[in-house]
Amino acid sequence: MEEQQKSSHVVLVMVTFQGHINAALQLATILHSKGFSITIVHLELNSPNPSNYPEFTFVSIPDNLTESQLSDKDIPGLVRSVNKNCAAPLQQCLEKILHSHHHISAVIYDSFMFCAQPIVDDLGLPGVTLYTHSALGLLFYHVFPQLNEKDCISGLESPELQALQLQGFHALSSQNPTEAGMEVGAAFANALKSSSAIIVNSMEFLELEVLSKIKQYLPTPIFIVGPLHKLAPTMCNSLCTEDNKCISWLNKQAPKSVIYVSFGSIVNIDKQELIDIAWGLSNSKQPFLWVVRPSMDRGSEWTESLLNGLEESVGERGFIVKWAPQKEVLAHAAVGGFWSHCGWNSTIESICEGVPMLCRPFFGDQILNASYICNVWKIGLELKNLERGNIERTIKRLMVDMEGNYIRKRAMDLKEKAAFYLMEDGSTSCSFDGLAKHISSV
Ligand code: UDX
Repeated sequence: MEEQQKSSHVVLVMVTFQGHINAALQLATILHSKGFSITIVHLELNSPNPSNYPEFTFVSIPDNLTESQLSDKDIPGLVRSVNKNCAAPLQQCLEKILHSHHHISAVIYDSFMFCAQPIVDDLGLPGVTLYTHSALGLLFYHVFPQLNEKDCISGLESPELQALQLQGFHALSSQNPTEAGMEVGAAFANALKSSSAIIVNSMEFLELEVLSKIKQYLPTPIFIVGPLHKLAPTMCNSLCTEDNKCISWLNKQAPKSVIYVSFGSIVNIDKQELIDIAWGLSNSKQPFLWVVRPSMDRGSEWTESLLNGLEESVGERGFIVKWAPQKEVLAHAAVGGFWSHCGWNSTIESICEGVPMLCRPFFGDQILNASYICNVWKIGLELKNLERGNIERTIKRLMVDMEGNYIRKRAMDLKEKAAFYLMEDGSTSCSFDGLAKHISSV
């Protein structure tokens, strides 16, 4: 099989978001180490740096996207535009690759690039979906909507799914489905029907009941290959420059005293919310490291003056950066809590380092992940609103109170489970062997 894999060629189609790019490049790195040659097809906006990966071939396709579309809250609208704009260029690109290579073993495409599936069907190539969110996201957004009401209700019966309070989310999400949301959901569901497999960046023990539910309703093989950032840890795929000065600042802080605050790569914060976060952090009297992306408040100029005022009031107790080396930060002994938007990458990175979380999800799968964190794994507290007094109290509950000790212990237990899962003969390496075999045989 090793010989066969040496000549196997995988094309990986990425989308433009930071969390998705990380997972795709990590997966590509692992597949390459297993003998596959790799071509990465990426969009022009947020293109990766090819010099970090001399072993891959990079091909860019036009996307007609603007920087401002990325900082919009309408993610389904953006995903719809991406697929509309990129379908024809992707088709041409794959045809060109086919003419220059003798063989493409499989086209692995990010689930947001579902336009790839009908194209590969036309070309007679196997398509594999890379799902960079939790398996719960797959169940909730893509499996349940395909079921009738009765199956859906009986599907929610297990204790874990009850704890997730999915009925509540279902009611919420079905109240105001946007046109783009429905279109994108239906297109992805169609793509899944002919996809030959689904790859999920998760760990089995985290999502056992959800995975068994998915398998009950979806015949497509699923390969659970996470945590990818631990399996391909050396690569830096950041689209922004990491500010490493925060590590020197962390080195001066007491163990487990710092709350790290970051809302990922696409969340926007309103002016009033940003002010409340600033004063909630300041009033908590807890040391904090805060990532304030320049685009986070849609580029208004007042951020700088607000932060200057904050620096005066908190002095050395707070450190603000535009982008942090997050994995290094979470692994640092001084970090005792992570206030997060609960993006899936941030969630599994935090689990792997045993850092308890303060959850303030903004949209989409972040809300499901927050429910996992607070209601199922019980390794975090939900921050219900961004009023400064509430922020101050909830930070203290997590970082200082007895309640926080209990949560911290559970987070450390989950970290140990993750470490064991990574070491165990089987689990991840088995999944990758299965995936490699699947790609080579389809
Ligand atoms: C998006 C969606 O928001 C999220 O809901 C979905 O689960 C994945 O896609 P994003 O907002 O970027 O993701 O969040 P997340 O999934 O947490 O990924 C952010 C990545 O950027 C993480 O790998 C994190 O380590 C990295 N990061 C973030 C940094 O390296 N430095 C920072 O300062 C902030």
